[in-house]
Formats: sequence, structure tokens, C-alpha cells
Amino acid sequence: MNLQFNDSSITVAVVGCGGFIGCHLLDAILTRTQWRVFGVDLDFYRIQHRLGDERCEFMVADLADKSVVERIAKYPIVVNLAAICVPSRYMAEAPEVIRSNYDHPAALADACAKSGSWLIHFSTSEIYGRTSADSGLLLEDETELTFGPVTASRWSYATAKLLTERYIAGLKNLKWTVVRPFNFVGPYMDFMPGVDGSGIPRVLANFSSALVRGEPLKLVNGGVAKRSFTSVFDAVDFMFALFEVGFSANAVGMTSKAAGKSPLSQAFNIGNPDNELTIAELAEKMRKIFADIRGVPVDSIPEPEEVSGVEYYGEGYEDSMRRLPSVEKAERLLGFKAKTPIDVVLRESLEWFVGHYSNTSYSDTDSASS
Ligand code: UGA
Repeated sequence: MNLQFNDSSITVAVVGCGGFIGCHLLDAILTRTQWRVFGVDLDFYRIQHRLGDERCEFMVADLADKSVVERIAKYPIVVNLAAICVPSRYMAEAPEVIRSNYDHPAALADACAKSGSWLIHFSTSEIYGRTSADSGLLLEDETELTFGPVTASRWSYATAKLLTERYIAGLKNLKWTVVRPFNFVGPYMDFMPGVDGSGIPRVLANFSSALVRGEPLKLVNGGVAKRSFTSVFDAVDFMFALFEVGFSANAVGMTSKAAGKSPLSQAFNIGNPDNELTIAELAEKMRKIFADIRGVPVDSIPEPEEVSGVEYYGEGYEDSMRRLPSVEKAERLLGFKAKTPIDVVLRESLEWFVGHYSNTSYSDTDSASS
């Protein structure tokens, strides 16, 4: 292990530390390193167990506040996970989605360029845009990017994220790495509608909620779109591979791009191409796993129902039909490859969901944002 992990003088700032990815990253940093954490978020319910940790300082804030941005950029490593990233909001709240995914991270990037921090910015696989059913492997530095028309507000999020990537890449003196997650799944993903969030969560949480409620899973436009699902624990391992190589390349404290295997000035897909499924296949797998968890026959679980995307999400909804990540770059530069198979990821996620919400009244009003 890299000796830097034992260095208790290092503080990493994690923006969005209370979110789905943030809560797992926080746990891993505190268990695998001696680092301190400066954590920023608006919602801390997933990390209650860490609030009293003497190696952590938490702040209830968001990046709309300039003084918070400057404070965050004082730390040598800044991980930015904060975003509005729930598709149902891309249509209804496009201006907020764009502010959250462009204005705020751009301000943080400016501050990091000034202070010399290494900014690890979480972007999205959605920057690959309106991919078609026969799209092949998506390569970080080669694939052409195509979006729907401006009237299709589904793309508000992706275009804001892409603009942020371009802004970051154009900033002189910024030490940056961009991460593009491909459908991370695992415990604590999103929310259960009407219990701890409102709107439509991403597919895993939405299907899990329907299963627990005994309702049919909704297949948007027939469920023919494909996604490559990635364990959030693999994603955390990616972050440690990134930290290690960053330290070896002297990313922290250096003044210019390192030679050789540097993770700087690079965008990385984090995904698992072996875990590709159509959404209809995902629904079938989840029904079977759920029936097994409950010890009931699968035909006692309601059959999925088809629904149109516009009817379900609202006017302006479009979809990416296939998102298959090339993971060659992460393997070559960081020695990282996701390894958790789809059946393991789904069982672990669904068991967590069933356990977590088993004492909840499913008609409770929502109390937290996404
Ligand atoms: C979303 C976000 O927009 C991305 O930023 C994010 O990177 C990505 O999730 C992710 O988790 O990595 P998307 O993959 O479209 O993008 O997210 P989902 O809402 O989970 O939808 C996946 C597919 O399932 C879509 O085809 C959607 O139409 C379908 N779906 C979703 C259903 O068929 N039924 C549902 O109940 C929900």
C-alpha cells in the first residue's frame, strides 16, 4: 500500500459526502487510510454513524456559497460528487440542473486552479449523449458526442456536465481528473419515493421500491435500452487506485503534469462492460432475486408493465439506448478493473433495500431530497 495512506496530515475534501457514492467513499477513506475528511453536503442521513468521528469535519452547505467553495479548495485533494443527477428532474427543473452541474463545479474548479488542489470531478456516462442501440464501446477520448435537440430537456444535465468537463480541461494550472460513472448500484442508492425522497429515482431504486410495494415494475419504452451496471464498491476501489497513482505521480503538491502514468488531465470511464443488460432483463433478474429473498415463487411477483417515456417522465424525455464503457484506459493507467458480477451486485443491493425499508411505512411523506 502507498505510504501516503498512513499520513494523518492529509485532509481530503469530499463534496457530496452524504450522497450515495459519497457515503461509501467516506467509509472507505476512514477505514483504509489515516486521512482526515472535510465533508460538505446538505443531507447527512446516510452518514449518521460518522458524524462524531474525530477525523472528520462536516459542513451543511452547497457550492452556491462562494466562501464554502474557497474553504473547500484549501485542501490538497478535492473530490466533487455534488450534483442533481435524477433523470426525472432534468425535464422539470432544467435551470436548477444546469446551475448545479455547471455553475457550481466551474466555480470550484476556478478555486482549485488558484489554490493548487487536485480536483477529482465526478461527471457522468450521460455525456456520451443520445447513443443508439448499435453504439459500440464508448471511449473517453475518441467517441463522438451527440445530443438531442434543445426542446428535449432530458439533455440539460448531460450538456451541463459536458460543459463542465470542457471548462475544467481548459483551465490553465488546474490539476484535474474527471470520472464518468456508468450506472453505479449498491446500498443507499437514491431513495424510496414517498418515504425519503420524491420524484422518480434511478432504475435500481425504482424497481426495488416497486418490488417491496408489490407493484409492477415499469419498463420505459419497452425496456429495450441497455446499461452496464457497476458496483459502488468497485467504484470506491477505483478511487483508491486513482489516489495511489496520483501520489506516485506526485499529483498532490506538483506544479505541472507528471510524466508517465499520470492520472492528471484525464477523463476515466468507471464501468463494468461485463454487466450489460437491457432494462427488461434487469427487471427479470430483480424479480427472481426478490422472490428468492422473500421465499415466494417468482410468478407471485407482478409482471412488468410497459410505459412511454414521455408519459412517465414528462415532455422532453429521450434516452441513451446503449452505454457500454471502454475500461481500457483505467486498466492501463491505474491498473483498475471492476470485478463484481451483476448477480452479486443486484442481490447485495436488493437485500440492503428490503432490510433498510422493512420497518418503514410506505405511505410516509418524503423528508429528504435526492
Ligand atoms: C442516469 C443519470 O442521468 C446519469 O447521470 C447517471 O450517470 C446514470 O443514471 C447512472 O446512474 O450512472 P440513466 O442511466 O438513464 O441515467 O438512469 P436511470 O433512470 O436509472 O434509467 C436507466 C434506464 O432505465 C432508462 O432507459 C430508463 O428509461 C429506464 N427505466 C428507469 C425504466 O425502464 N423504468 C424505471 O422505472 C426507471
